[in-house]
Amino acid sequence: MPRGAGVQDGGDGWMVDLSVEIGELTLQNPITPASGSFSWEYDEFIDLNELGGLVAKTICREPRDGNPTPRMAETEAGIIQSIGLPGKGIDYFLENIVPEYAKFDPPLIVSCSSEDPDEFALLASELSVPDVDVVECNISCPTRNTSGGNFALSDEHTGEVVSKLRAATDKPLWAKLSPNAGDIVSIARAAEEAGADALCIANTFLGLKIRTDNFRPAIGNKYGGMVSPALKPIVLRMVYQCAKEVKIPIIGIGGVTKAEDVVEYMLAGASAVGIGYAAFRNPTALTSIIRDLEVWCDNRGIKRVSELIGAIKDEDMEMDTLTAASQGV
Ligand SMILES: Cc1cc2nc3c(=O)[nH]c(=O)nc-3n(C[C@H](O)[C@H](O)[C@H](O)COP(=O)(O)O)c2cc1C
Repeated sequence: MPRGAGVQDGGDGWMVDLSVEIGELTLQNPITPASGSFSWEYDEFIDLNELGGLVAKTICREPRDGNPTPRMAETEAGIIQSIGLPGKGIDYFLENIVPEYAKFDPPLIVSCSSEDPDEFALLASELSVPDVDVVECNISCPTRNTSGGNFALSDEHTGEVVSKLRAATDKPLWAKLSPNAGDIVSIARAAEEAGADALCIANTFLGLKIRTDNFRPAIGNKYGGMVSPALKPIVLRMVYQCAKEVKIPIIGIGGVTKAEDVVEYMLAGASAVGIGYAAFRNPTALTSIIRDLEVWCDNRGIKRVSELIGAIKDEDMEMDTLTAASQGV
């Protein structure tokens, strides 16, 4: 059994249960890759069987070339990217990619997307094959419109598309929300009411970088999704706010680079995390964070990592920010 499963460590007394439950699904630990910055090919560098789950790149029904290049640019604090969901379509995915992931033990979470709710639902039903454990709907592609692919900017569009997906699949359905929504809590509620089993919070922040040598946008699609460890406090705040308002589990995604970040997300109410940027830079981040989390828990006598979920101590701090700001000094 891998260390990532949280087991006795050869007699030195470690015994941390790292497992978490996302609805009916049990993950051996709360560490999953984030969609788009991970592939089964990472198996060359890490033991994929140590991970809590395997998350495939968002798949679309028809083959897509993706966005014009360049697709990625560096900033002072992270990257801005607009890849454009390139892929070879559903048939290729089912025939060639699902079998690659199926060679490993952790559950397979398949992310999918469409600009059309009916095609999206069809895609979800076609993806509901035995080797797929979870359908994650990417309803938050940052460079798309709210009525077509970036549904998670609006509670109405979110409710509509998640309802269609819910009707189309019996698999656990996770909805990936957008940090660009004005009021993410209302979107979270809409996704829950429409039947999502879990929420992934969140996708990337819409951004722009302009080259000062030629005055052109730095990436071919003009706008891109910003990812950076600097964004973690913002997504953490969103996870915290949503966790107070929905009952379904939350996977916190944004700026996780170390075990303490996982702890923060869990204290805020997340049941697991997704890791994109850190694993994109160095795939071994995924497995080293699992080990560090185990050590972190063991050092504090925490026997089950799930004890951390929602364990933030804030009972005496219920005043909201706006109320606090309007108090006299
Ligand atoms: C290169 C790249 C490609 C991405 N592709 C997808 C994708 O296909 N589907 C998706 O839902 N999110 C995609 N994302 C967003 C990540 O899944 C994740 O939500 C985001 O990077 C925030 O997590 P992080 O701060 O750990 O990177 C992508 C991110 C990056 C950096």
